[in-house]
Amino acid sequence: MCGIISALSYENNVSDSLISALSRLEYRGYDSAGIAYLDENSQLQRIRTVGKVQYLRNAVEKSNINSCIGIGHTRWATHGKVTEFNAHPHVADGVAIVHNGIIENYQELRQKLVSEGYKFESETDTEVVAKLTASHIKSGKNFVDAFKHSIGELIGTFAIVAIYEKSPDTLLGAKKGSPMAVGISPDKKSAYIASDAVALSTLADELTYLEEGDIVVVTKGEQISYTIFDMQNNIVNRQKVLNKVSLTDMSKSGYETFMLKEIYEEAIVARRTYDSYKYDIDVSKFDNVSIIACGTSFYAGVLAKYWIEKYAKIPVDVEIASEFRYRNAVLRKNSLYIFISQSGETIDTLCAMRLVKENGMKTMALVNVDSSSIAREADYVIKTEAGVEIGVASTKAFIAQILSILIMFIGKENINIDAIEKAINSVLNAGFDFARIAKKLAGGRSFFYIGRGTSYPIALEGALKIKELTYVSAEGYPSGELKHGPIAIIDEDVFTIALAPFDQYFEKTISNTQEILARDGKVLLITTEDATASLGMFKNNANIECVFLKQNEDKYYPFALTTLIHLLAYYTAKSKGYDVDKPRNLAKSVTVE
Ligand code: M6R
Repeated sequence: MCGIISALSYENNVSDSLISALSRLEYRGYDSAGIAYLDENSQLQRIRTVGKVQYLRNAVEKSNINSCIGIGHTRWATHGKVTEFNAHPHVADGVAIVHNGIIENYQELRQKLVSEGYKFESETDTEVVAKLTASHIKSGKNFVDAFKHSIGELIGTFAIVAIYEKSPDTLLGAKKGSPMAVGISPDKKSAYIASDAVALSTLADELTYLEEGDIVVVTKGEQISYTIFDMQNNIVNRQKVLNKVSLTDMSKSGYETFMLKEIYEEAIVARRTYDSYKYDIDVSKFDNVSIIACGTSFYAGVLAKYWIEKYAKIPVDVEIASEFRYRNAVLRKNSLYIFISQSGETIDTLCAMRLVKENGMKTMALVNVDSSSIAREADYVIKTEAGVEIGVASTKAFIAQILSILIMFIGKENINIDAIEKAINSVLNAGFDFARIAKKLAGGRSFFYIGRGTSYPIALEGALKIKELTYVSAEGYPSGELKHGPIAIIDEDVFTIALAPFDQYFEKTISNTQEILARDGKVLLITTEDATASLGMFKNNANIECVFLKQNEDKYYPFALTTLIHLLAYYTAKSKGYDVDKPRNLAKSVTVE
């Protein structure tokens, strides 16, 4: 959460790099954006705007900036409302700071700084870092030492970069809990510190990821270089890795939105996941499996439970990471602990994984970003092959996650990838009138997504997608559970999306659908062509509409259903005029608790 970029260069156009990187980082937060830089007279300047990076871009373009050093930030608000005062960078006596994470002891530090005479202009936890560094400079320390001292006083998680107007050739960064990478441009004229590889695509081909407690000092002398210090203040060498994010990954390739592009990639992703899966894991040696994740990745885990227990006969627990890490879970000895994360940076999942490691267990990460913190810290990594996912709502990553797990537990030889690819493509190419259906759904006061068996996790995923994109409350429920309470909500303004392929659960979900119709609820039934003959009772019922998927093997229905519910959420949000790539209040990478 929150995107960070900073640059030190021999060229005087760093504001261009900052703004272009911030546009790419917008998926990390878009409540406000800002930059601070040293102008041609080494004076600290700052521009901040509320809302998307485009507003900042407009303001920067009017400012005619000539600067060789600067920092930038896109904010996902934690402490303090979405206002310009709370927007980063925060400054104090010529020091400017941007931050991702949470400073837990900021109140205490703030009081101390207030007693020293510092006045605060924001409600953020970040501003204390600027003031603290300024205070150490005032007491006689140089910029680097003042920064190191300040970082040493912070409790919490952070990625922070800083500049100071009296040190125009120095750029500083610190990492604890939140990711940070440093890189130098191919022409060696500029260096950058950023929160991820996406920010640095087009800027640096090779990256160094900081480790916990590291501080990086970037300097400009005869050449641009950087030095990394570990927690004990020793100079350390960290491995360099190639920046694999390319410009094509970052483009919409002609689609109206990233989300639509990413849904349309779901069949390709399935094929790529299958083709590139080379891992050889003997799952039979484990007594049980624990899957820990958040959001959509958690739902991939719920689906995995159905498959693993059915096909591999291994008991599975699935846990929400934020609960697992604090509930004093009893860890099981011969268990395979799997952590699923698209970004690989979700702090709850990362901390849950650390907890398992601290207890002496081996950990396996299923991640889409192989340079991420989770990937770097796990004992074993399975890279999902979704490619870069930019839309805040996760779509194609879910397909890669569920297929990777299916392969891991039943083996490639038992999977018909052609059938999966065909199933997804048949939804993408079916020509369903989503715009019309979505218009109908857009009038709903709230939604239920129901399903049984493997359709239930997809119902959960469907409900999450519709609520995060359309801001209407939605619940995913096992079909059989509605009558135990939730059915009280049903009336003519509530829409139920019933996921009922013609499998062993079909009849039961159809009965539950009848119960909804009997109470005037509206139903969109997603079923399969082979169910047509069994749907006579719905003839002439204006409250139900059916969408038919192609018939398939039961275990592949989740793939087609996923693509369908993704498109449904997409078009419903579009019909309401919402920004599907950047839904309100959200961020792609959730690096705070
Ligand atoms: O990067 P992760 O898979 O760890 O992210 C987990 C959730 O934050 C994520 O799936 C979130 O729920 C999405 N916005 C859902 O579309």
